[in-house]
Amino acid sequence: MLTTARLLVPAFVIALLAGCGEPSSSDLPDEDVVPKATVARGGLLYDKFWKASAAGEPTETHPLWEKRTDTTSNDRTGSTTWRCKECHGWDYKGVDGAYAQGSHRTGFGGVLGTKLSAAELTESIAETHGYRAAGLSDTEIESLVLFMQEGLVDTAASIDDEGAFKGDAKRGKRLYNKGLGGSKSCSTCHGVDGLRRPDTAPKDYDEWVGKIAQKNPWEFLHKVRFGHPGSVMPSAVGAKVPMKDIVDVAAFSQTLPKSR
Ligand code: HEC
Ligand code: HEC
Repeated sequence: MLTTARLLVPAFVIALLAGCGEPSSSDLPDEDVVPKATVARGGLLYDKFWKASAAGEPTETHPLWEKRTDTTSNDRTGSTTWRCKECHGWDYKGVDGAYAQGSHRTGFGGVLGTKLSAAELTESIAETHGYRAAGLSDTEIESLVLFMQEGLVDTAASIDDEGAFKGDAKRGKRLYNKGLGGSKSCSTCHGVDGLRRPDTAPKDYDEWVGKIAQKNPWEFLHKVRFGHPGSVMPSAVGAKVPMKDIVDVAAFSQTLPKSR
């Protein structure tokens, strides 16, 4: 019995590899070692690149920061000014969206509907914006380009003018407790009421599901679609989850308490 089992395992593995049509040559890079560019990775980098990359956290303020047309509303300095979202917004609309007012206003425009070609996007992100010098790899820049081309959505299709998600909260409750796209459920990590601190989160964590969903639905949508950089939070886009499922979960999340 034992001998048969030992012979069967390698035979099965070889059959599997052959079945996938993958070259068996051992000098090909392992996909886990050389990650491919993906929209999902681009979305994470858009949020806070140094938590989703080997590139370190910037120490200086972003070189384009001094070009903001409103220099008084947003007086942040340092690494925060490198987050794409700080200039272009969680809704990708910059000064034409949620950052039209408030402490995040810079006056910079959005990226939604950009007409730039892949080559122009690469040049803009890598060179004009300085992300290559900041340490992002070719694959990471390519992921950001893919995110600009395929990952941006007009959040107005999912969120109304009052900030409410246009979803079915009842259906969303079921999905919240079941999980999206075969991932663990939201409730496993965040609790059925959204007030559980995820295991890896800091002790003073207070970014509760209900709080983010109500306070900043655009950020919420981005986090559920792409995950939270540097954490185990799954990406719905990575798992090819339909937008309707995401918006239904979001609508339910807005019914959860904002604080303990
Ligand atoms: C410090 C603010 C700032 C940050 C951070 C920033 N950008 Fe920009 N971005 C700008 C400015 C300013 C422009 C306009 C540049 C110009 O054309 O004059 C711009 C333009 C763009 C455009 C071109 C939009 C168009 O079609 O006109 C894209 C695409 C873009 N940014 C993507 C990104 C990405 C991706 C990131 C993060 C990796 C990022 N930006 C981070 C300031 C910023
Ligand atoms: C495997 C565990 C896990 C699952 C499943 C999960 N999350 Fe998360 N989530 C996390 C972690 C970890 C963080 C980051 C916490 C931190 O800030 O350190 C996070 C962050 C978030 C944030 C951003 C809040 C913040 O920390 O800034 C939101 C919103 C969120 N999750 C909602 C959801 C929703 C909705 C679902 C289900 C669709 C879900 N999460 C599924 C683990 C998970």
